[in-house]
Amino acid sequence: MKFFIDTGNVDEIREAAEMGILDGVTTNPSLLSKEKGNPFEILKTICEIVDGPVSAEVIATKRDGMLEEAKKLAEIADNIVIKLPTTPDGVKACKELTSQGIKVNMTLVFSPLQALLVAKAGATFVSPFVGRLDDISSDGMGLIGQVAQIYENYGFETEILVASVRHPMHIVQAALMGADICTIPFKVITQMFKHPLTDIGLEKFISDWKKLMGED
Ligand code: G3P
Repeated sequence: MKFFIDTGNVDEIREAAEMGILDGVTTNPSLLSKEKGNPFEILKTICEIVDGPVSAEVIATKRDGMLEEAKKLAEIADNIVIKLPTTPDGVKACKELTSQGIKVNMTLVFSPLQALLVAKAGATFVSPFVGRLDDISSDGMGLIGQVAQIYENYGFETEILVASVRHPMHIVQAALMGADICTIPFKVITQMFKHPLTDIGLEKFISDWKKLMGED
């Protein structure tokens, strides 16, 4: 399973990259709005840090406007992936961009039919939002299971990118379901390392060794 980080924060991206577990980055306008500086410059820096896909989202709502913005974003770096909303215009723009060989991440996916539509349009990635579904008492991870089944039934190559991840169990469930990628906030990446028995065990190993060496 690939791990992407879901952030526009360069420090978080650098730290996750140093861990050696980072395969890509997803940003969105809300995430970039939290950062200081020009978003295009930030995206350029991110693309230099990470050797993998970096999703950058358009804000136009009509096909032509999306294509115009996509052109500008794609010029930032070779590893930019264009993120488009899953609307009829977004699907049209997806079809056009993928036919030009530009990678596309279809975002704001909340139903299996939306996932089917974007796969038919040749999307590189589909981003179902699990946390936001859980927030409204729907089954976010259930959607991942449905999309995985549908894509397997028809041999679609669109990669399932689990988005709106809120806690480590989303990642465990996504891995058990065979999702291709999870995009994870930095805080949840740090939570993934945590186990109380690791902390207790490490403390004991160190204190036993120090006793043996007469250091305490
Ligand atoms: O990048 C899109 C997605 O991961 C957003 O997550 O937490 O705002 O629902 P969230």
